[in-house]
Amino acid sequence: MKGIVFVEFLEMVEQQFSADLADDLIDNSDLPSGGAYTAVGTYDHTEIVTLVLALSQESGIPVPDLIKAFGEYLFGRFFELYPSFFEGVSDCMDFLSRIEDVIHVEVKKLYPSAQLPKFDIDYPDRDHLVMVYHSDRHLGDLAEGLIQQSIKHFKEQITLERENLDEEGATVRFTLTRAA
Ligand code: HEM
Repeated sequence: MKGIVFVEFLEMVEQQFSADLADDLIDNSDLPSGGAYTAVGTYDHTEIVTLVLALSQESGIPVPDLIKAFGEYLFGRFFELYPSFFEGVSDCMDFLSRIEDVIHVEVKKLYPSAQLPKFDIDYPDRDHLVMVYHSDRHLGDLAEGLIQQSIKHFKEQITLERENLDEEGATVRFTLTRAA
């Protein structure tokens, strides 16, 4: 997993909890990398799970809630860091429908070692979008947070429904419907 994800996660912990807590998570987690992340480095994705578990133990907030909250935070950072992905985009579904064929394709060019999820996209009309998430990293909660924040970002009335299509969380269907 790319270091940018870790850097942003620790930044969120500093902002929403404290810098001391961010340091404690690293010190107490016995991470193979030692926790000295750089944005362009690549690290074992299980380290993010370890850090989220540690944050859950410290804060008492369940792991899925923390991962979703991180997805919401990360969307805001992506908007700041990669404005070009938002150019010429007319609305939320337009943006999300480009994840697989445009945005993550560009991400892969920027970071060839990035391990990205696969999304099957069905965008039959401007009011309906179905995104089926596939990933061995089981980060459907992260996808949910990113999608949720993208709906908020575009200030649109869209309902989001989530269905886990397997036990492990490797396949998740997100159905977006524009409210009438
Ligand atoms: C400007 C928009 C976006 C950028 C720049 C971006 C970039 C990235 C990057 C750099 C990673 C890390 C890859 C790695 O660690 O190896 C990633 C992973 C991921 N992205 Fe995106 N992304 C964007 C939007 C989205 C959106 C809107 C979604 C949800 C629909 C999404 C879903 C995910 C998920 C779930 C992962 C975790 C990896 C996995 O589940 O296998 N991304 N993305």
